[in-house]
Amino acid sequence: MTDTTPAVDLEDAEMQVDLPEIGDLTRYNVLMQTIRNRVTVRKFDPDYVVPEEHYDLILEAARHAPSGANAQPWQYIVVRDAAIKQQITDYFVAEQRFRAKAKMKFPTPDYRGLSTAPGFIVVCSDMRWVNAFPVLNDGSDLDRMYKENAERILLQSVAASTMSAHLAAAALGYNVWWVTAIGQQEAQEAMRPLLNIPEEISVLDIFLFGPPAAKPYKRWRRPLEEIEHWDQYDRRHFMSDEDLEDWIKTRRHRVMYKDASKID
Ligand SMILES: Cc1cc2nc3c(=O)[nH]c(=O)nc-3n(C[C@H](O)[C@H](O)[C@H](O)COP(=O)(O)O)c2cc1C
Repeated sequence: MTDTTPAVDLEDAEMQVDLPEIGDLTRYNVLMQTIRNRVTVRKFDPDYVVPEEHYDLILEAARHAPSGANAQPWQYIVVRDAAIKQQITDYFVAEQRFRAKAKMKFPTPDYRGLSTAPGFIVVCSDMRWVNAFPVLNDGSDLDRMYKENAERILLQSVAASTMSAHLAAAALGYNVWWVTAIGQQEAQEAMRPLLNIPEEISVLDIFLFGPPAAKPYKRWRRPLEEIEHWDQYDRRHFMSDEDLEDWIKTRRHRVMYKDASKID
């Protein structure tokens, strides 16, 4: 028989919800201050030591993120060993060189900055959690579609949690850096033995934070009118294939970095 007992004491759980009056801007303004100041840097002050409690404060924020089926399919490895940080950095630097040689035309940043990050957290997930979402598990084409969807739900869930962690770090005064590892088989293989990560677990991202090595700068954001649609998809915001191609060619590098000559 299915156990239908709630996983929490409901009265206690209701008491924990404490929202302001709808429309009161006090908390919104404080939140926006953090959101606006979550800024990426790709080189940190390597001499700074993150107080141990800051890791707890940051991961406490990660813990409260929403997730599909409330599965909470995330694990965070705090890396403090400088030698291990360096080995992970070496992998990303090598990968960056490969991409440059493969002429992917992507303005890849300088990953040597990874080893300078005082805060270094490896974001992991167990992809078997896809089974917690709607899947058929009968090997059919339909099952494949549901599995793909389930995988996306899982990745979105971990991203939501990671974002909470980044915001908490920004709220504590740190600059951050989000580095993707998912989909890079070699990155997985390079990191698993270093961190004793089981075969079933995937490394999705690396989350770096700390005081910046140089003055950080705020990157361009699309104006609100460009992303906001009312009732219907506003065709004025639609980009044709040519528009998109042109954006990638002429604009992408300028919105990723201060200017084309100053790739972080
Ligand atoms: C899902 C995701 C993946 C990212 N992957 C990388 C990455 O692999 N390497 C990197 O240098 N930056 C990465 N970034 C950082 C973005 O380049 C950065 O957030 C963006 O340029 C906007 O700058 P800002 O964070 O200062 O606002 C990633 C960000 C996100 C949200």
